[in-house]
Amino acid sequence: MIELKTGREIEKMRAAGQILAKTLDLIEQNLKPGMTTEELDKLADGFIRTEGATPAFLGYNNYPKSICVSIDDEVIHGIPSPSREIRDGQVVSVDAGVLLDGFYADSARTFAVGEIPNESRKLLEVTRTALQNGISQARRDSRLGDVSYAVQQTAESAGYGVVRDLVGHGIGRKLHEEPQVPNYGSPSTGVLLKVGMVLAIEPMVNLGGFQVRTKPDGWTVVTADGSISAHFEHTVAITEGGPVVLTI
Ligand code: MF3
Ligand code: CO
Repeated sequence: MIELKTGREIEKMRAAGQILAKTLDLIEQNLKPGMTTEELDKLADGFIRTEGATPAFLGYNNYPKSICVSIDDEVIHGIPSPSREIRDGQVVSVDAGVLLDGFYADSARTFAVGEIPNESRKLLEVTRTALQNGISQARRDSRLGDVSYAVQQTAESAGYGVVRDLVGHGIGRKLHEEPQVPNYGSPSTGVLLKVGMVLAIEPMVNLGGFQVRTKPDGWTVVTADGSISAHFEHTVAITEGGPVVLTI
């Protein structure tokens, strides 16, 4: 069942989303070569708690840290570690979730550390645009396939691989709710979108093929061909007035 949210509930999710946006801003401002991914985790965890909220990923399915930090060919679910140093020229995806007053928000951004090749820079831009194009389809009387198709078209027309094994999701009183939100699909198919639905839309896009595999740590998902990957995610409410991004 897809849980519809009231206006008041959406406002609670916006409050969680604003803390999350500030968390990712803080990461962006502090991200520099020589830092460890563990330090980023500590920074985010501390900030979220200072704001009176709870890091949503910590303990989720026994996940051991408060954020995910995925570098270069790592797509998502990279586990922060004191032995993992960030270097100049890397592409770093940071994914985080916040729980506040019974409601979740989920968001991710991918950052360039120092100078990165133009082709990687373009990957980040196109993935960000794919998310925006998906968001603009998240309106009442559209179908979920319209969102998925917009994301897929944006990424594939640039020649990139859209990850299929991992999907976006409904979000609210739980981090992951129905429906699943694939990043590929056909227009005018799937669930009819209604006012009160809240979706985490999260394209994961690879410079190479769409295939991925999970590393032996059981969490880190990497591209099968070793190509660079990008991930952008927002929590988006479908309202009378159109899509509203709650994680800005
Ligand atoms: N970021 C994932 C998502 O967007 C969830 C990560 S859960 C964790 O759905 F346990 F891996 F942290
Ligand atoms: Co998500």
